[in-house]
Amino acid sequence: MKKVQFTETALRDANQSLIATRLPYDKFEPILETMNSAGYYSVECWGGATFDVCLRFLNEDPWERLRRMREKMPDTKLQMLLRGQNILGYKHYPDDIVRRFVRASIKNGIDIIRIFDALNDLDNLKVAIDETLKNGAIASGTISYTTSPVHTLDKYVSMTRELAAMGVSSICIKDMAGILEPTVAYELVSAIKDAVDLPLIIHTHSTTGMAFMTYMKAIEAGVDVIDTAISPMSGGTSQPATETLYYVAKALGCETGLNEDAIFKIADFFKPIRQGYMDDGTLNPISLTTDTRCLTYQIPGGMLSNLLSQLKSLGALDKFEAALLETPKVRKDMGYPPLVTPTSQIVGSQAVQNVLTGERYKNVGAEIKAYCRGEYGKTPAPIDPEVRAKILGELKPVEGRFADTLPSDTFEKAEAKLGPDARCEEDVLSYILFPEVTERFFEKRREKEEKCVKYSITRIEEA
Ligand code: CO
Repeated sequence: MKKVQFTETALRDANQSLIATRLPYDKFEPILETMNSAGYYSVECWGGATFDVCLRFLNEDPWERLRRMREKMPDTKLQMLLRGQNILGYKHYPDDIVRRFVRASIKNGIDIIRIFDALNDLDNLKVAIDETLKNGAIASGTISYTTSPVHTLDKYVSMTRELAAMGVSSICIKDMAGILEPTVAYELVSAIKDAVDLPLIIHTHSTTGMAFMTYMKAIEAGVDVIDTAISPMSGGTSQPATETLYYVAKALGCETGLNEDAIFKIADFFKPIRQGYMDDGTLNPISLTTDTRCLTYQIPGGMLSNLLSQLKSLGALDKFEAALLETPKVRKDMGYPPLVTPTSQIVGSQAVQNVLTGERYKNVGAEIKAYCRGEYGKTPAPIDPEVRAKILGELKPVEGRFADTLPSDTFEKAEAKLGPDARCEEDVLSYILFPEVTERFFEKRREKEEKCVKYSITRIEEA
């Protein structure tokens, strides 16, 4: 019997795409045991934006969250999303920090690390893949899917072969914008399955409305795993619904390994949670609608809302249409990067600057300068030389690999700076990724503990 397995994204990608990752641990803890028995290939529950948001908005230690999920889900593979050499941040980090972070993630409970690079510069995945494999976890080598004159089927197949040569445990095609057409998915899955003997995962979003059809064609072509979200957390900018695809897979004669009772329980559990976020405005109905502009403008859903809020804060909403048209032009100048964190922000902000000033590349930010220097790695196509010269000015491009130019004592320095606040390696890693946010988190942690001590002292005195 043919087989297709499911990765549940409710806790990470669905949470991130629909409600800006605001789901606190306490809210989903009661359903973890059921999720553990649902028969998923894996539960994607960590990494991406969850780490930053835990510290920044939820006053939660992301490492603690991971350990608790591990405890409640001992039989299910826990999966995280890692931005290669960017770890979970927005710039490259030294190799030893990437290795320490990967090791700590595995030590605290991660089984599968899905590793991608915003430019598809596979050199940026090497260190993370190597460390994941060394520590006995599953390294899923990931290709960010995009369309451009240089992103051909052959190109994707050759990237897959390169990843296989690095020893990855599986291949993932990550379509963050929901632009992977069903017929292309069929061709891509068939070609990759022919080229390498590895499990293949397809990841897409419902943004443009094609996702169900894309998965159906991918299943027909023999994909091994698809990413879905339990129905109340599905649709729009999130993934298509788990239950729907469970039925489709069954109807196509595939074994899924899913436990029907469990997935219905999970759906029931998330219904009132979704309603709560609708009522308080966290879940914007716009996120749930089909938006086909991605197909015309090649702009992912998340980026559209970023552009809107950026222009709104600048009082320049009338420039929205112009910014939409400018974005693909900037992307072309930049050598057709896939639009995903952090390239989506770099390209988007520059498009806004270009339309606001009325002169292209008159105002340029630090990130796009870094991009043109080569601090993010190799671009899919060369950057337009004139544009590059204008942006760089006197700045010299990076020679060789950028990570090799970064200081080798980052960890020790951070540890020394934190003093007693650094209680474990994980604390230091949080600080290296998000210094200000983590310092504030430590401050709150101390306050909370001091309060606890005070309470217990009063109680002893009373007794
Ligand atoms: Co995604």
